[in-house]
Amino acid sequence: MVGANPAGVDTLFSAEQIAGRVEELAGEIVSRSGADLLVVVILKGSFVFAADLIRALERNGASARVDFITLSSYGEATESSGNVVLTHDLSEDVNGQNVLIVDDILESGRTLEFAYRTLRERGAATVLSCLLLDKPEKRAVPVEADFVGFSIAPEFVVGYGLDLAHRYRGLPFIGRVQPDHTEAGR
Ligand code: IMP
Ligand code: MG
Repeated sequence: MVGANPAGVDTLFSAEQIAGRVEELAGEIVSRSGADLLVVVILKGSFVFAADLIRALERNGASARVDFITLSSYGEATESSGNVVLTHDLSEDVNGQNVLIVDDILESGRTLEFAYRTLRERGAATVLSCLLLDKPEKRAVPVEADFVGFSIAPEFVVGYGLDLAHRYRGLPFIGRVQPDHTEAGR
C-alpha cells in the first residue's frame, strides 16, 4: 500500500526521481574525485541521502570511508538563525584526506562555509561537496557546491531525511510544505 502524503505536504521529487539522481551524482563524483574518499556527512538532515549516496558510490567504483559531524543553525524554526554550531564532532583525523562533504540543503551557505573552513583548518588535502538540494536565491555567503542533486525555489521542503521541527524525516520523497503548514511545527 502506498501511503498518502501528510496534510500540507506536496510531492516535489518522488523516490524514483531521487534514486535516479543519486546514481548520476555518484558517477559524477567518482569521475572527478577518484576512488579514495572520506565522506563527511553533516547530520542530521543528510543521513538518508548519505546512506543512498555511499551505496551508489560503491556501485560506481568508489569505496568511501564515512564519518559524521553535527552542525546546527535552525533550532525549531524554518529560518536559519545565522549562527552555525558544532554539536558533535568527527571521530576521524581528516589531515591529508580527500574529503567529500555530504549535506542536505545549501541555503544561506553558512553551514557549508563552516564545514569547508573546519576541514581545511584541519589539513584536509582536498575538499569537495555534494548537496542534495540547492536554494540559490537564499544565498547569504559566497559558497557553492561541487555537486548538486536538484536546484529548487526558496520554499521549505521535508522528507528523505529533512525535517520540520523533527517531523517528516522518514518520508520516502521530498515534499514542499504549504506555507500555512510551516507554522504548525514551530
Ligand atoms: P544554510 O546554512 O542556511 O545553508 O542552511 C543549510 C541547512 O539548513 C541545511 O543543512 C538544513 O539542515 C537546513 N535547511 C535549509 N532549508 C531547509 C528546508 O527547506 N527544510 C529542512 N531543512 C532545511
Ligand atoms: Mg543540515
